[in-house]
Amino acid sequence: MNRAAEQSQTNPLREGLSTRAVPQPCSVVIFGATGDLTHRKLVPALYNLAADGELPPAVAVVGFARREKSDDEFRQEMEESTRKFSRQSVRDEIWKTFAQSIFYHQSDFGDESGYKTLATKLDKIDKERGTRGNRLFYFAVAPDQFEPILKHLKTAGLNQTREGSWARVIVEKPFGTDLDSARELNRVVRNSFTEEQTYRIDHFLGKETAQNILVLRFANAIFAPLWNRHYVDHVQITAAETLGVEGRAGYYEGAGALRDMVQNHLLQLLCLVAMEPPTDLGADSIRDEKVKVVRSLRRFTQDEIATAVVRGQYAEGAINGKTVAGYRAEKNVDPKSVTDTFVALRLNMDNWRWWNVPIYMRVGKRLPKSGTDISVHFKKAPLVLFNKESTEQNVLVIRIQPDEGISLRMQAKMPGTSFRIEPVKMDFHYGTSFGKASPEAYERLLLDAMSGDATLFARRDEVEEAWAFIDPIENAWAAKKDAPGLFFYPAGSWGPEEADDLLARDGRAWRRL
Ligand code: BG6
Repeated sequence: MNRAAEQSQTNPLREGLSTRAVPQPCSVVIFGATGDLTHRKLVPALYNLAADGELPPAVAVVGFARREKSDDEFRQEMEESTRKFSRQSVRDEIWKTFAQSIFYHQSDFGDESGYKTLATKLDKIDKERGTRGNRLFYFAVAPDQFEPILKHLKTAGLNQTREGSWARVIVEKPFGTDLDSARELNRVVRNSFTEEQTYRIDHFLGKETAQNILVLRFANAIFAPLWNRHYVDHVQITAAETLGVEGRAGYYEGAGALRDMVQNHLLQLLCLVAMEPPTDLGADSIRDEKVKVVRSLRRFTQDEIATAVVRGQYAEGAINGKTVAGYRAEKNVDPKSVTDTFVALRLNMDNWRWWNVPIYMRVGKRLPKSGTDISVHFKKAPLVLFNKESTEQNVLVIRIQPDEGISLRMQAKMPGTSFRIEPVKMDFHYGTSFGKASPEAYERLLLDAMSGDATLFARRDEVEEAWAFIDPIENAWAAKKDAPGLFFYPAGSWGPEEADDLLARDGRAWRRL
């Protein structure tokens, strides 16, 4: 096809990631302004956007929390944590200007009058700072606070998209603890905000390499013919952390690794790897394809759960040569806790593309290394010309973090007179190829919400389908109170041996990170 003919085949109406919507002036109201997320992630992300000149011309940040404090006290706290947690070091002159746009609003979440005064404050900010009546409400609070906040926002009329301006809500995880609670939460949110106004955050989707999965798959023609059951032997997804529960036992005891990481982050990554090409890059086109992936996951029967899912918990061990306590000895953890800090699963997708291609997932705390990656293991070359020992699978590794990049493992002849074959790696590193650091996931996601682009946020049906898949596993575990099938692993190891057996039974092994 000549160039002109090729051009005529592109659809000028295509929209999406490539032609990014413009972030609009707005007030970002953070509920839970004195909490960890605001200190560690949200305000540092907003500062970095300001420093990189990415923020819209007018933005105000309004922290909403119970404790009494002045704007200046809040600004000072935010400065301290931004200096500690920011991706780039804080430049005084930029901070000074940015700090002028930070405000504090003291109120109880359940106090109706606090929302009336919030509305007045936001109107004043609109007039003084040009934020044009646009409001982005960020729920950085525990889910039991959602209902009163949503109710009062509605009563104060703050949920309404008025002419020429908008109101949106960003909801943090955990989005429910099972299908019923997720549905209930969705119902509660919908009472005040429409689906179009609702942005359910999964920060893994904002990670640079997660977004690059779509580019790898759909902007490079060479992978498309191989990306299916004919050529792929299996896929592995690993999310490993050296960290333990880190003072979050209050939440983690009731969650565990399956709910904390698999239901959301890992299933989202799987969706990006396994989905069909969308018709365009619009938010719903992509999410329509993702939800089909989750829907196609084969549900486990009771019997399969014992053989296809491994549940682990860390015991005392050593990380980087330092002894660390076992999970049951952590603060606020029940000494008889059966909470999972590690899960390994073997999944199957009942769809045309992936039929009979196992997907192995593992996630764990207190593992020897921190890193998230996806590896696609291709079928071996036929054993016709070279012997068995010398042929290995080609493996395409997508490193989500750290050292974001992609590598392809293949066979090469070793230099020399003999015919020895050794595996080698073709490697792309974001850092060296582009020479600049990737933005933090929260930076990208906050900007997208300001632009009205929900592509990288989870839709209601995606969240509910994911719970429908997870629930039978949690239910089977909960039914066995004495927890047979909870395997302990020493901190600093790669999880219980049973996780290795899961692959060994299929003649496979976990890729070393
Ligand atoms: C969070 C989980 O969603 O993701 C944490 O609640 C986990 O338990 C974290 O540590 C991992 O995210 P990241 O971006 O640090 O890999």
